[in-house]
Amino acid sequence: MRHTRVKDLLNSTNTLHEVNAKGWVRTFRNNQFIALNDGSTINNIQCVVDFENTSEETLKRITTGAAVSVTGDLVESKGAGQKYEIQVKKLEILGDSDAEKFPMQPKKHSLEFLRENAHLRVRTNAFGAIMRVRSVLSYAVHSYFQQKGFVYVNTPIITGADAEGAGEMFQVTSLPLDNLPKNEEGNIDYKKDFFGKHTNLTVSGQLEGETFAMALGQIYTFGPTFRAENSNTSRHLAEFWMIEPEVAFNNLNDNMDLAEDFIQYVIKYTMEKCADDLKFLEGRLLEEEKSKPQAERSEMALLEKLNFVLENNFKRVSYTEAIDILRDSAPNKKKKFQYIINEWGADLQSEHERYLVEKHFKSPVILFDYPANIKAFYMRLNEDGKTVRAMDILFPGIGEIVGGSQREERFDVLVEKMKVLGIDEEELWWYLDTRRFGSAVHSGFGLGFERLVLFVTGMTNIRDVIPFPRTPQNAEF
Ligand code: 4AD
Ligand code: MG
Repeated sequence: MRHTRVKDLLNSTNTLHEVNAKGWVRTFRNNQFIALNDGSTINNIQCVVDFENTSEETLKRITTGAAVSVTGDLVESKGAGQKYEIQVKKLEILGDSDAEKFPMQPKKHSLEFLRENAHLRVRTNAFGAIMRVRSVLSYAVHSYFQQKGFVYVNTPIITGADAEGAGEMFQVTSLPLDNLPKNEEGNIDYKKDFFGKHTNLTVSGQLEGETFAMALGQIYTFGPTFRAENSNTSRHLAEFWMIEPEVAFNNLNDNMDLAEDFIQYVIKYTMEKCADDLKFLEGRLLEEEKSKPQAERSEMALLEKLNFVLENNFKRVSYTEAIDILRDSAPNKKKKFQYIINEWGADLQSEHERYLVEKHFKSPVILFDYPANIKAFYMRLNEDGKTVRAMDILFPGIGEIVGGSQREERFDVLVEKMKVLGIDEEELWWYLDTRRFGSAVHSGFGLGFERLVLFVTGMTNIRDVIPFPRTPQNAEF
């Protein structure tokens, strides 16, 4: 008999004769009530075991984590909290789970402990919910761009380019590390490497994406991205997923409009499709908040926070205005937001970003027109000669969620900038062709997918919103 997913059983419009469900035991109470979960929903289905007619041996094997198959009638539940339950007629243990050894006991585990068990943590309510939300958000990303006629482009994972010029790359080689071939100058001879050149894992698909935008008009990428930045923070992963749309003929304002519309769409879509999961995650957060001192509790519950983002425009503020705001706020020192005042030209620290978003504007913020010297080589220089048409979107509790810009479309200006930064023109000859042949204004941005999942789930550590996090000293699974 084909099993029915628990979600469909719970959503049934009527009672049913003889259904089969398969899943994993979450709890087994009073030798009678199984809470069964099959991953289709946050909700368990209660399965009432006829314990008088079930062998002692079978009852003992109904333990947390065991895989079981239950067959019986779907009847209205007398218990509170659920509409239906299964009156079990036949129970089969598919896979035992030693109650003494199974790490995911039905109790609250610390997130640290769960990270050490990333292969099993998905069997908890919270991680089941997070991973379903993540999946729906991915789908929403494609749905948004496909509806708008963007072309999905798969940019290479192995590349010779350092798009961000930050040098934080994982190198890729097929050379024997204990016997590297050397050239006449005594350097490693990458000509003998698999690709005949030095390569690395991509830090961004933007440069390749731009070449496609200059033919297909509007494209997006959505793929794994790698950065060997040794920052052990709750916002950085060495392997993360980035969404990078790129649009020909869009200027920076169009780019901001697109980013805002896109983010609002995917959040709205996910709130509609994942109502149960988000409600659960909100409850989990509220529990967690109770243990914090009043001053540190967040002002909004999760769903309220998500709705706020849907209903309010992001505040658009230039870098220069932001610096003024930060300077003015100096006398008003709040303990939590103590920071060193930035001088014009310096990059903002995360406490500055948090001050702007969480204290000053109390809203997502789009910061634009950054000093040229703190941004990547490809950004469009403004007429003032010192700022570039960059934009960062900052979110409450997250900080930077999007980085983007209008691109420098003028060949001469771009080449000059590359010279100053020591970027090899010959290496990027193909990129420069976009400016040699039919160049035009174009813009794009990159959204860190995990940071979006963080925001939507209300989680606070990026390690908890990706199945198997890759961080410094950690690639266990
Ligand atoms: O600001 P970034 O470095 O911008 C780019 O890579 C551009 N090429 C994007 C573009 O214009 N097409 O990265 C974009 C976003 C950040 O805002 C952040 O959300 C995320 O990628 N990100 C990370 N997420 C997790 N872990 C990391 N180590 C990240 N580094 C960047
Ligand atoms: Mg950035």
